[in-house]
Amino acid sequence: MTVQRHANERVGSKERHPMTRYAICGLSRRALGMYALPLLGSPLFPGYGDYSAHGELVGILDIDMERVRAFNTEQGSAIPSYEPKHFDRMVSETTPQVVIIASTDGTHAEYIIKSLENDLDVITEKPMVIDCAQAGAVIDAEKRSRGSVRVIHNARYAQPHMQIKRMIRQGLLGRVTNVEFTWNVDTYHGSSYFHRWNRDRSQSGGLTITKGCHHFDLINWWLDDRPEQVFAYGTLNYYGPDSPHNPSRQDDIGGSVAEQKRRCPYHRRWHVPGLEPPKDDHLRARERALDLPYTVQYPQDRPMYIYDEEIRIEDTYSVVVRYRGGASMAYSANFSAPWEGYVLGINGTHGRLETVHYTAPSRCPFPVREGQQIAYYPLFGERQVHETRQMSGGHGGADPLLRHELFVGPLPESEELDLPAGSLDGAYAVAVGEAAWRSVEENRPIDISDLLPIERKRSQSIEER
Ligand SMILES: NC(=O)c1ccc[n+]([C@@H]2O[C@H](COP(=O)([O-])OP(=O)(O)OC[C@H]3O[C@@H](n4cnc5c(N)ncnc54)[C@H](O)[C@@H]3O)[C@@H](O)[C@H]2O)c1
Repeated sequence: MTVQRHANERVGSKERHPMTRYAICGLSRRALGMYALPLLGSPLFPGYGDYSAHGELVGILDIDMERVRAFNTEQGSAIPSYEPKHFDRMVSETTPQVVIIASTDGTHAEYIIKSLENDLDVITEKPMVIDCAQAGAVIDAEKRSRGSVRVIHNARYAQPHMQIKRMIRQGLLGRVTNVEFTWNVDTYHGSSYFHRWNRDRSQSGGLTITKGCHHFDLINWWLDDRPEQVFAYGTLNYYGPDSPHNPSRQDDIGGSVAEQKRRCPYHRRWHVPGLEPPKDDHLRARERALDLPYTVQYPQDRPMYIYDEEIRIEDTYSVVVRYRGGASMAYSANFSAPWEGYVLGINGTHGRLETVHYTAPSRCPFPVREGQQIAYYPLFGERQVHETRQMSGGHGGADPLLRHELFVGPLPESEELDLPAGSLDGAYAVAVGEAAWRSVEENRPIDISDLLPIERKRSQSIEER
């Protein structure tokens, strides 16, 4: 199955003009490490690369002016800062060519559309948006604009993932028939979603979107196919007030978060006095440059913790997806697992591929070998093991490659493997996530064409033929 591409889907990877002007919406941790510090090329943080000869950070928009001020003070910079209501003023005063959007997920759509209305190119963090209605609005805005949307589906850029794409492209599996995909998010990273904004579906779309979009995009991309129907079960098993680990269920501790943490097995597991805090690409502020105040997002007088009453989203999912080309997937996600990573099997008419990935070796409760292997089983032959390189840098070496592509120009693999993700890729990744939680809620299969406006139009035109 080769997907018919939409006119505005071929985002390609642009050769950037030297000294492209970038504005950032959302000075998040992700924005700092992935974009802001590399663009500043601060010699204090060589680990993020130095792209100061390729681009300039000209403006920052955030709800939190204190956070932006602290950043400028820390960096000795004077990058103009703007509140959300002054988006248009930021554009007219700082004249960016590209807007990077790395604020909380639920705010992406607004900034993407405003940027496109100004004919600016957009680089948006995943998930592109948090539901299909927003995805439709983005796709329409892009059609009207001279700007284009690039979605940061960085998981594509990890070496093992590129190798899987190559193996499928080379026809080793024949036609893909079905996929087994189990994602474990460990007790450190998984629990963190429940004391951050991600626990609120109106801000993140829930875990099948804020996190699941990585996984669903990988499958869409590997299979070069589009999802058609989704059925799911899911529930909240580990977090929220009814958690079996909630200390308040045993003792009345008067709602004190400090006391809850002191007794909480998730906290105690990972915060051992005298030991370094765990390493995580998403969370830990290991350098002062990333450890800026969150005065507005997390007011000090409203501490959030993983057993709070308002937690509604699911932390456990079993999902089945059918693709247009006939393949299906059984996907399982658990956000309170003892180790982090995935187990993947892909079956085809001519062979099978298997691999296990350990995302956070330093947090694994057992030793993990370096470098990921992919086992290929021809249907009628002996197993062949493909080794893949262990790369340094964020998200298994994906982020440095992607940064080069964004700020300098295409990688050799970009065209070969269709690496850059555009608005339609972003939309279909979100669509599976939305269909999954809606299926849980409504206890029925959900057709993607009922959610995604562009799919609705497509299925109408097929019916009319
Ligand atoms: N691609 C990846 O691997 C990856 C990894 C981590 C995060 N992300 C994505 O990056 C984005 C940021 O995530 P994070 O966890 O680093 O965020 P964060 O919690 O560190 O920061 C969020 C920032 O957004 C700001 N903000 C909140 N509401 C806003 C609004 N209405 N307008 C402008 N700014 C607003 C906050 O003040 C804060 O500075 C999210 O979309 C997330 O899904 C992607």
